[in-house]
Amino acid sequence: MKATVTAFLFLCFFIVNTSLYRLHIYVNDNMTWTDAQLYCRKYHDDLSTASNIEVKLLSANPKITSEYFWIGLQRDSQSPLLWKWSGGENASNVMWDAGQPDALHEQCAAVLISNVKMHDATCFLSIPFYCMEVFELILVQKENTWIEALEYCRQNHVDLASLTSDLMMREAKNKSTPAQADDVWIGLRFIAGHWFWVNGNNVEYKGWSLEGEPQCPTVDQRCGVFAKKKIVWKPDNCERRLNFLCLKKNRVTAEGSSN
Ligand SMILES: *[C@@H]1O[C@H](CO)[C@@H](O)[C@H](O)[C@H]1NC(C)=O
Ligand SMILES: *[C@@H]1O[C@H](CO)[C@@H](O)[C@H](O)[C@H]1NC(C)=O
Ligand SMILES: *[C@@H]1O[C@H](CO)[C@@H](O)[C@H](O)[C@H]1NC(C)=O
Repeated sequence: MKATVTAFLFLCFFIVNTSLYRLHIYVNDNMTWTDAQLYCRKYHDDLSTASNIEVKLLSANPKITSEYFWIGLQRDSQSPLLWKWSGGENASNVMWDAGQPDALHEQCAAVLISNVKMHDATCFLSIPFYCMEVFELILVQKENTWIEALEYCRQNHVDLASLTSDLMMREAKNKSTPAQADDVWIGLRFIAGHWFWVNGNNVEYKGWSLEGEPQCPTVDQRCGVFAKKKIVWKPDNCERRLNFLCLKKNRVTAEGSSN
């Protein structure tokens, strides 16, 4: 079951009963819904759960050449009029296309890319799909330099946190409440003339303070902090000892219970 995997990654934020981030990974291989689910559970967490906004973003992936793709939506085996996510939760507010769903024997749901609407479909249809991985932000209350913080997050969790939306900034504020200082380290670094996230992503969403993005920070101001009172990023001295925000894997079991 070795697939030609083209990872197309971005972070989407959602809130269930706790604050979690979903990372969607595009798998450029044609599989039935069930094989896609097996694949996702083996290599990632599960087939993607996606809000309507996420479905829209996932459909905009230029790598998709097929007409449809799978996400983790299927009929409940006991009550076929109900739709459930692969993780087991009830699905609500699904954006069905006009007249859909229209056939009880079509037990899986695929996204029609041309209009970003859901269609019920036979689960044996062989199309590409999205897997997801689920993360959460945590505050580590150690007094570390930026590089020590990075190493700590990578050894014990996933990475120093990237904050890539207003919601993530607010979540960062919330999580930073117990931090001693106003500033906590995040995964922002200035190297070779530009700021980037340590996970390799470009800095697209901007959370800089009113002074704007520091274009030419001095040598001792090239690590990024999140300043919780003002909910902004600021350049700071990498040698400062601060608490920090890590991205932590949130284990989602095959049954869909997350902890
Ligand atoms: C998946 O199927 C479509 C349509 O049959 C085809 O165009 C595409 O090349 C297939 N993708 C792969 C990775 O085999
Ligand atoms: C899912 O929806 C059904 C029908 O509305 C309901 O009986 C069930 O309790 C719901 N399950 C969860 C976990 O919310
Ligand atoms: C902040 O966290 C607390 C406790 O974890 C939660 O009750 C509250 O809703 C959160 N606030 C925001 C704005 O997310």
